[in-house]
Parts: sequence; C-alpha cells; structure tokens
Amino acid sequence: DFAPRVFSGVQPTGNLHLGNYLGAIRKFVALQESQDCLYCVVDLHSITAQLVHDDLKGQIRSITAAFLAAGIDPKRHIVFNQSRVAAHAELAWIFNCVARIGWMNRMTQFKEKAGKDRENASLGLLAYPSLMAADILLYRATHVPVGDDQKQHLELTRDIAIKFNNDFSPRIAAAGLGTPIQMGEETVNGYFPITEPLIEGEATRVMSLKDGAKKMSKSDPSDLSRINLTDDAEQIARKIKKAKTDPDALPSEVKGLEGRAEADNLVGIFAALAGQSKAAVLKDFGGKPFSEFKPALAELAVTVLEPITAEMRRLTDDPAHIDAVLKDGGERAGAIAEKTMRDVKEIVGF
Ligand code: ADP
Ligand code: NA
Repeated sequence: DFAPRVFSGVQPTGNLHLGNYLGAIRKFVALQESQDCLYCVVDLHSITAQLVHDDLKGQIRSITAAFLAAGIDPKRHIVFNQSRVAAHAELAWIFNCVARIGWMNRMTQFKEKAGKDRENASLGLLAYPSLMAADILLYRATHVPVGDDQKQHLELTRDIAIKFNNDFSPRIAAAGLGTPIQMGEETVNGYFPITEPLIEGEATRVMSLKDGAKKMSKSDPSDLSRINLTDDAEQIARKIKKAKTDPDALPSEVKGLEGRAEADNLVGIFAALAGQSKAAVLKDFGGKPFSEFKPALAELAVTVLEPITAEMRRLTDDPAHIDAVLKDGGERAGAIAEKTMRDVKEIVGF
C-alpha cells in the first residue's frame, strides 16, 4: 500500500481570504500533526488565467508567509513553489497525453474562467487539471485537503491515475513498480495512488459576504465581499457589519438555515472559526438578531486571524528567510520528484 502523504497547493494570485484559510490552509496545519505533508505555492497555475503579473515573486512570498504564519512547520514538512521543480511540468505533459480533451471540456472551473470567449482562453487554462494531477501524483500523495470548489479537479486526478495504471499495467508489473491498490472489492496493481480529497468541516465553501450565491474569491472586484488575511480588526468588523443578511432572527436549528444562504454562510464561518458544529452555534444564538450575532462573529474572527496577520507582516519583512525556506523545500521536493520521474520514464518506455 501507499504510505499516506498529503499534498495541497494555493495559487499566488491576489490576497488570501477567509475562504482560503478555512477551506484549505487551516486544514494543512491540522494535518501536519499526523501526516507527512507537502504544501506548494502553485505558481505555474497562476499564469493560466492571466499571463503577466506585476509582482509574482512578491505574491509567492506572501502565500509562503501565510503558510508559515498559520503554523505550518517547514522543517518537518515541505513548503516550496512549484516552478522550482521542473518535474511538475514534465509529468503534466505525460498526463496531457493520458487525459482526454472531453474530460477537460467538462470542467466547470474552465467554463467559468474561460467565459464566453473559450477559443481565446489559454491552452494552459484548459490543461490546468492535468498539471494539478501532476502536482499531486508526482509525490504519490494519497490525501489532498481542499475547498469544495476543487472536488471536480480531484475526480479528474483520480481518473488520470486510474487510466495510467490501467494502460501501463503490464509494464508497471514488469518493472516491479506496482503497488497494491484497493479499488472497491478488487485489489489492482498500479503505480499511482487513487487520491482521496479531504473536503470536511463547516466551511468547505465560504460564500461572498455580499452575495450568498457566489463563493468568496480573490478575484471578486468588491473588497467588501471577502475578509482578507491582511485585514486589520477594524476592517474585519466593518465588513461583517456590512455583510448581507435577511431581517429574521437566527433559527435555533440547522434546518432553519435552509433557503437563507447568507445566514447559513455566517453561521458556518462562526462554527469553523470556533471549531464547533453549526448546531452548537445555533444553540447559543438561536432566536437572536444579526445585530447581536455579527459583533460576536467579528470578535471571534479577529481573535483567530490577528495573530496570523501579525506574523505574516513580520515574515514579509524578511524575504531572505522566505526564499531560504522555498529553496530548501524545493530541493527536498525535487528529490522525491526525481525518483517518480525515473519510474514513470521506465514505465512509459523512454
Ligand atoms: P482562489 O479560488 O481564491 O483563487 P485557489 O484556487 O488558490 O484560490 O485555492 C486555494 C485553496 O483554497 C483551494 O483548496 C480552494 O479549494 C480553497 N478555497 C478557495 N476559495 C474558497 C472558498 N470560498 N471557501 C473554501 N475554500 C476555498
Ligand atoms: Na480555487
């Protein structure tokens, strides 16, 4: 069987927000206690939607600072940026030849990001999930903590691993590189694990504070729609105060959140920040108006985020330290990647 290993990535595009923190980064921190983890700033992905960036290096450092400030330990685990390890692109090429165009055309993120003018989207945007599969499978990672928006891409990663394992099955066996994989009732011999997504908790999809139908996103033009990890206490309180809600009091049971997207979102954020269930939050706040709930939520958000923000600032003032972390992580990731590429080349027959 495959040794358990965790991989996840965050793009260096724009400000990190509460959705990135609750949906991803906070889980990265929790998993490092029990797992072997690689956390990657996926800079190759960041040029798929927009080619030219003002300060990509600064953005890469800022995501790295957020990882470290949130509590990821780069000595026990691997923190690096993707472009340092050329094998990501190399394996992605092979996966471009494993994956089918039809699989890519079905991806909702591609449809959303490409918009109406699909013919004019970059080829990289279409192939994005193939690079993501390479990021994960280069380390033969078994578990990937992500927000709900990445679920479809992870299914595609599994499809790529399954097709590679099936198509090359005799050669994997002949090279003595097969590992038993439990697939339902059956045990098959494959080279790549069938990665499990870890999409759990009360905040797997944090929604915009201005529109309960849209996810909180770096690319939303309205800064009031999200809480940035760099916001100070005053900004956090102001954004939560201005968050869209309905006029009713909070329900006392989770069922009562149905059809109330904004209320559901704020209760979910509270629950995730407090490490409670939504039911527990509603036990305390059921029947109370938002005018009472919002200040409590703001106070909680500030308590959780302020130390991270302060540490991010401190780290950002020392770019040499960040660069040293990325260099060291890149070397350690590169060593694992090199072994995988040697195996893959033998299997493919190069
Ligand atoms: P974004 O979608 O903000 O551009 P990324 O694509 O770099 O950010 O995603 C980084 C991680 O944050 C992924 O695991 C993604 O699923 C998670 N994530 C992004 N937005 C949200 C959200 N609104 N709620 C929960 N998780 C999110
Ligand atoms: Na995303």
